[in-house]
Amino acid sequence: MGRPPFLFNVTVKSPIDIRMNENKFAKKIVCVGAGYVGGPTMVVIANKCPDYKVTVVDISEERINAWNSDELPIYEPGLKDRVDKARGKNLFFSTDIDRNIDEADIIFVSVHTPTKTFGEGAGKASDLQYIEQTARRIKENSTSSKIIVEKSTLPVRAAETMASILHSGANSVRFEILSNPEFMAEGTAIRDMEEPDRILIGSHDTVTGNAARDELLKIYLKWVPREKIITTNLWSSELSKLVANAFLAQRISSINSISALCEVTEADISEVAGAVGRDSRIGSKFLEAGVGFGGSCFRKDLLNLVYLCEYYKLDDVAKFWSSVVEINDNQMERFVNCILKTMFRTLVDKKITIFGFAFKPDTGDTRDSPAIYICKRLLEEKARLSITDPHAISNAKKDLTGIDGTAEFVENPYEAAKGAHCLALITGWSEYLSLDYQKIFDSMLKPAFIFDGRNHLDHQKLFEIGFNVYPIGRPPLTHI
Ligand code: UDX
Ligand code: UDX
Repeated sequence: MGRPPFLFNVTVKSPIDIRMNENKFAKKIVCVGAGYVGGPTMVVIANKCPDYKVTVVDISEERINAWNSDELPIYEPGLKDRVDKARGKNLFFSTDIDRNIDEADIIFVSVHTPTKTFGEGAGKASDLQYIEQTARRIKENSTSSKIIVEKSTLPVRAAETMASILHSGANSVRFEILSNPEFMAEGTAIRDMEEPDRILIGSHDTVTGNAARDELLKIYLKWVPREKIITTNLWSSELSKLVANAFLAQRISSINSISALCEVTEADISEVAGAVGRDSRIGSKFLEAGVGFGGSCFRKDLLNLVYLCEYYKLDDVAKFWSSVVEINDNQMERFVNCILKTMFRTLVDKKITIFGFAFKPDTGDTRDSPAIYICKRLLEEKARLSITDPHAISNAKKDLTGIDGTAEFVENPYEAAKGAHCLALITGWSEYLSLDYQKIFDSMLKPAFIFDGRNHLDHQKLFEIGFNVYPIGRPPLTHI
């Protein structure tokens, strides 16, 4: 069976500018896409390879300006420090995509690949329009051969599609495509890149494929031990990225499904996860039950996997991975239902304070955050929301724009909780551990409820203060 049908659009050709003579660099790397993945990845490469010129380009002038300023467009511990070390020396940020493409020896493609919202495969397949636009732009502006590195997460066999665009028409320039997926998580991106569990490089097993792979290996070997670098064929590498995210998400849905069983049997999900995770074959990570996973990758990559399986008529396999998404959706709905049921089956005009809107702590990123779904559902029930988060309020405002209902956004958690009927904790920020919950309790309506969607707080202590406490996967502690 051939490759899945991808959609292609056309971009406008720009003239190639005069090149600067910068022969002092061993090689020139360009990364298209200055986002959460492209930015930090290139910052680390520039720090580790001072003899390489690294230029990050993006269609967004606003983003590039931010990378060139003191207010970087994303927050990652350690990022600013590393930008300061390399920017202007061997690290550059630019909107001049075409000239930089032509100058490059190696081009990383790190544009985003969201879930399609229209047409064939809507709601599942990856929207590859930006990948295609980038491939066309590379082709149109290249006067010398280049290595193209897929950094974006792509469907398996996407490199075949890129190759057909790059090698179409009369252009005699040759491109060798590699897959080098990124496994960094937000909040730990710099550490993940500097001390990776593994680096994965997929290439074609041909003379030119192996030569390109060795060029990329040379970069990583500057700081990553050889035994941590895995080399595979291109399709295995592309698929491994989707599968790694699917496995991580599956563990979360597995433990969340068991949390539902704990709630009706009086077993405690933390004790179960602790006991199960002690088996070294299972391992203890990614077994924290909660309101469900969020972030820009898990849902998107699972849906993409489901789409690919359906495309190849592997319906049972598709169903299996689809159920991971369903359990996640159910978990968010179970949380809303628990609030509704506990609060006497009506939320009309009740003030609910939301603690945390980011998809996880230590980031302001709210992409696919469970908070979005949960807040929309609570607003549907006509609750009044008071939303607080240490870093995600501006994104939260955007996410809830146009939604009917009353939602206020309050920086100070004490202010947010004043006069509330209940608190719903959705993001496990460390800031929430050290709040004065007696003060919060005193300012709330009684009976006061806390729904801890991340099992983050000290439940016994809250109960002793007077709260009715509803954890995930554990019996509630109630006074009523
Ligand atoms: C990345 C990956 O590329 C994606 O496949 C993966 O699944 C998640 O991580 P991310 O870095 O999070 O995406 O995306 P984003 O922060 O949105 O950055 C993408 C950047 O590419 C944006 O700054 C956007 O302006 C830029 N872009 C997009 C281009 O420069 N050219 C385009 O044609 C499209
Ligand atoms: C993820 C992958 O971890 C990373 O390897 C990949 O490159 C990109 O996608 P990220 O989305 O930044 O990274 O966050 P991650 O730490 O994996 O958390 C994702 C979601 O799962 C969050 O909403 C988090 O709260 C949730 N989660 C995580 C749980 O609910 N329970 C857990 O035990 C772990």
